Amino acid sequence: MHRRLIAPGALAAVLLLAIPASAATPSPGAPGIGDPYYPSYGNGGYDVSHYDLRLTYRPATDELQGTATLLARTTQDLSRFDLDFLLDVSEVRVNGVKADFTTSGEHELVVTPKTPLAKGTAVTVVVRYSGVPSAKSAYGFTTWHRTSDGAVAADEPEAAWWWFPSNDHPSDKATYDVSVAVPDGTQVISNGTLQSTSSRLGWTRWNWRETKPQATYLATLAVGKFDITTHTSEGGVPVVNAYSRGLGDNDGAARASVERTGELVDWLSGYFGPYPFDSAGGYVPDTTTGYALETQTRVYYSPKQFANGSNTSVVVHELAHQWYGDSVSLKGWKDIWLNEGFARYAQWLWSEHEGEGTTRELADYVYASHPAGDPFWTVKPGDPGPDHQFDAAVYDRGALAVQALREAVGDDAFFRILKGWPQEHAYGNASVADFQKYAEQVSGKPLAALFDTWLFQPSRPSAPAARAASL
Ligand code: ARG
Ligand code: ZN
Repeated sequence: MHRRLIAPGALAAVLLLAIPASAATPSPGAPGIGDPYYPSYGNGGYDVSHYDLRLTYRPATDELQGTATLLARTTQDLSRFDLDFLLDVSEVRVNGVKADFTTSGEHELVVTPKTPLAKGTAVTVVVRYSGVPSAKSAYGFTTWHRTSDGAVAADEPEAAWWWFPSNDHPSDKATYDVSVAVPDGTQVISNGTLQSTSSRLGWTRWNWRETKPQATYLATLAVGKFDITTHTSEGGVPVVNAYSRGLGDNDGAARASVERTGELVDWLSGYFGPYPFDSAGGYVPDTTTGYALETQTRVYYSPKQFANGSNTSVVVHELAHQWYGDSVSLKGWKDIWLNEGFARYAQWLWSEHEGEGTTRELADYVYASHPAGDPFWTVKPGDPGPDHQFDAAVYDRGALAVQALREAVGDDAFFRILKGWPQEHAYGNASVADFQKYAEQVSGKPLAALFDTWLFQPSRPSAPAARAASL
């Protein structure tokens, strides 16, 4: 009854007093960055600009220890925040002051600073840690792989949890210094440029630096006995490759493929524009995994890629990702087509160059190999879902979509799009919707129907009219 006596304006004033604007109340950062495919990946409330990792690794026992220093900026008033991490933490400092920390969920390190952090301020987070990465798992799996003489971290969409604390999502890119000490005679491979090595007390420290923004899943670390080769491409790109001493019969084919990195970077630059990074290369550890990964500047290859002889196609695929995926990164994991559709299309362009089938022939072949009703067509490359993110359809139907775009806009506009896109969003993040908008802008054609048909329908599109006759 009394409420009636309060004028509406007065009630609003009372509410405002009772519930202060959220900007004035520090709150916990979210445990995930908000990606619907992987709700717990990444974190809310801050943005990292630089990771400095100073580590020591013992191959014999798989012990990793050291300090990660993160330079970040808050994006809200923060009472606490999460990092994604699995190893054992002994101390966390926020702006120099010891912070409380605990673990939560599958891979969250929850940090509560002594005093809340104001929105928009610079924060330095120091995490001291140690642990045996191979002994840790999350959701029942591990992506840390021990080898005969070391270990490798390279996987997608997650690899960082096993070796450094991070905001593990491609939408938060940062620069990196990765410094790892290993026993003399062992090598360390990581992203970017090798700044220096130094030896003392039986340990050699390797200092790698990546100066361009890099997604967390593209950070890589390999320790082992490697033969490292260096050269400079005709186009001036410094190349650093590394081959495990344990490649056995695959050694020749691995080198015959990966040593062509400089040539292939230059060739791809003709389609995609200038190579976006200061260094290029790849490494082949003696792992038993079957995939390759476009780890920034230093591609990870499995020896299996080279079991049948040279495989320049996989090198082209991973190098294409340096533009499509690494420099221009996904906004969310649903945008995976922007990575895999274009990396596969680059392989088709290379096939055409090598006289092993034109892009059009390959498109027709893929289309014909999957008749209507093939579950292949139920995967929507534009939003495949986390369980189908790396299905063959994302790659092959994804490349079909690229070919369909080419035929719709014509070669001139198509190749301007292919080269313009990596410039438009260099070192940033973009979505499939952004790409559609860009392609429409460059070509002057409405493309909504084409994108919907090739990327978002769970069924086999009818072949482009011009080709229906031959199929
Ligand atoms: N982006 C990688 C490639 O296309 C795929 C990695 C898939 N991840 C995995 N663990 N199999 O080369
Ligand atoms: Zn790929």
